[in-house]
Amino acid sequence: METQIRRLDYDRIDEQIIEEAGSIIRKGGLVAFPTETVYGLGGDALNPESSKKIYAAKGRPSDNPLIVHIAEKKDLYRIAREVSEKAEKLMEAFWPGPLTMIFYKKELVPEATTGGLDTVAVRMPSDRIAAAFIRAAGGFVAAPSANVSGRPSTTTAAHVEEDLSGRIEMILDGGQAVIGLESTIVDMTVDPPVILRPGYVTKEKMEEQIGPLEVDKAIIAPDSGVKPKAPGMKYRHYAPRADLTIVEGPTEAVIEEISRRVEEDQKAGKKAGILATDETAGRYPEWLVLSLGQRKHEEEIAMHLFDALRQFDETDVDCIYSESFEEASIGPAIMNRLLKAAGHKVIYV
Ligand code: TXA
Ligand code: MG
Repeated sequence: METQIRRLDYDRIDEQIIEEAGSIIRKGGLVAFPTETVYGLGGDALNPESSKKIYAAKGRPSDNPLIVHIAEKKDLYRIAREVSEKAEKLMEAFWPGPLTMIFYKKELVPEATTGGLDTVAVRMPSDRIAAAFIRAAGGFVAAPSANVSGRPSTTTAAHVEEDLSGRIEMILDGGQAVIGLESTIVDMTVDPPVILRPGYVTKEKMEEQIGPLEVDKAIIAPDSGVKPKAPGMKYRHYAPRADLTIVEGPTEAVIEEISRRVEEDQKAGKKAGILATDETAGRYPEWLVLSLGQRKHEEEIAMHLFDALRQFDETDVDCIYSESFEEASIGPAIMNRLLKAAGHKVIYV
């Protein structure tokens, strides 16, 4: 199949293109679309055949449920049962936006979309192209991140093309995704609610609204043997082709350790790449150094992370060393993705 790519301008969203994309979904086809977090691979959430096509296009195991995207808050009540007061408060504070909530599902949502679970993950994106597209598609769009299973999520239409060209009908190009990390996921079927995936909406910001939250133990201690509640979190993810190792410690010690290892690798005939920041990039020997942005601007780091991981795949490096990032604010979300990409290989200095 030939994948059509349609560029859209946020200042003047072309209604005709949106209608064309919506009609592909209504007929059971697939369209990748921009959101504020990452690009999504969309299909009709209420059509089991569409969900099956999504799994096939991504090469994703079908026990890994999809997020249902909506464009109107009221549509939540058509697919979710038992929407608690806390869920309503979070919805008021963070929707539309990068927050996904899990509820018991209603009949309307097929099990093909929820990976056989009796719960459904729901998100209302703030991206205006996404919202217009969801409306045109009939209101309920199932969408995982628009990458081939196991690869880093996609933050530009070019990334999507790289992974899914020829497998889907259309890509809506809205430029670079502004957040660059997937949404925060919170399980609202339990009290206190539990964070299953950290994201841009932090624990602290949610606690200001609804009081204490818990964090899925599988996120905190990944090798604890605890089975994560978000099925997708158990799969190896985001991994670049080269072997990635995180080096954590005081900045000076990290620079020294990475430089030493890169030289050692070179002697052993291996090429290394470095994932650094604007503040430190110039301090490394002349190797392939990619900067994620200014260390003090976590949002910049988040926005560039997946792109950098993909850039290394275009090179012939055998291994990659990455600096580590703060655990404050969106730091846990950044580190969660980086740790998964590294298969949890960390060197402490
Ligand atoms: O920002 C995002 O959330 C992006 C954009 C496109 O909206 N989507 C995204 O989808 O990251 P995906 O499929 O790559 O990740 C969704 C995660 C998976 O780990 C999945 O297992 C989990 O959400 N999930 C979905 N439904 C669930 C449910 N009912 N219960 C527990 N976890 C669920
Ligand atoms: Mg994903």
